[in-house]
Amino acid sequence: MSWKSFPKIELHLHLEGAADPAFIRTLAAEKSLDISRIFDKNGNYKFDGFSEFLTVYENATQALQSPEDFKRLTQSVLENLAENNVIYAEAFISPDFCGDRDLGAWREYLAAMREAHVEGVTLKGIVTCIRHFGPEKAREAALCAVETAGDWVVGFGMAGAENFGRARDFSYSFDMAREAGLRLTSHAGEWCGASSVWETLKELRVERIGHGVHSINDPKLVEHLAETGVALEINPGSNVALGVYPSWIDHPMKRLRDVGVKVTVSTDDPPFFGTTMTREFEELESAYGWGIEDFKLLNETALEVAFCDLATKDVITKRLEAL
Ligand code: ADE
Ligand code: ZN
Repeated sequence: MSWKSFPKIELHLHLEGAADPAFIRTLAAEKSLDISRIFDKNGNYKFDGFSEFLTVYENATQALQSPEDFKRLTQSVLENLAENNVIYAEAFISPDFCGDRDLGAWREYLAAMREAHVEGVTLKGIVTCIRHFGPEKAREAALCAVETAGDWVVGFGMAGAENFGRARDFSYSFDMAREAGLRLTSHAGEWCGASSVWETLKELRVERIGHGVHSINDPKLVEHLAETGVALEINPGSNVALGVYPSWIDHPMKRLRDVGVKVTVSTDDPPFFGTTMTREFEELESAYGWGIEDFKLLNETALEVAFCDLATKDVITKRLEAL
């Protein structure tokens, strides 16, 4: 069946990673910027493997140069979310791509993003540092997060190359964010193994892990996740597209859920991986036979571990109950 009209919650979505290639091409043309090398002959993003993906991603962000560009991007992302009936989403937003972490510029970019609006979709932001840009830049990103924390910027996180440096190099940034009341998440266990998840939990004290799928290889870690309620923001379509797992059937999402780990489903960077939230639901249905009860449970878990305030959760709960 089509799950398009089923209400959904998405917790792991990179704002720049959600930019349609056609949108990026339009912005690039407006600026006479030649980034044609990042597209294939059909106009899709072209990359082979994770490190090339990161390069193409960063090249695409070169077309995003002003607060107005980010307002247009946010507007188009909200429209895509509405199209898939995503009623609540948290987006990773990076000061690195918004005025090079300058606090004054960041405030302007943020204000512009917040002007975007689509009826029926609630969006919150998680300020995200980029691991392979290093700890110094992470601190500057954390400062941007701390200074703009509130009802819209609700969290702080880390994306990028998981094999760069050690988690503890970023502890200071996460401590700053925690002290400002921000909720914490970090990518781990996507490209590196379970030890990367253990290290992230210990050093960064996060309450959610982005991906975390390699936790499945360590039964003690699986038990720990289930006991502590640390949630995984799982992106199976992204993992299959990037070759982390050869197929949906091989993906550990169902096994993790069935042993009591809190799992949620998201798209990560949807146009890069040829996915949407609707497609993730459809693939979960065909790989695992999941149906309405499984998807209601996914929504409940996602809302429980969402970083927004309780009043927002109440509003979203009522909309889900109206199902
Ligand atoms: N940035 C955007 N997508 C990412 C991913 N899947 N892993 C790490 N960093 C990212
Ligand atoms: Zn991600």
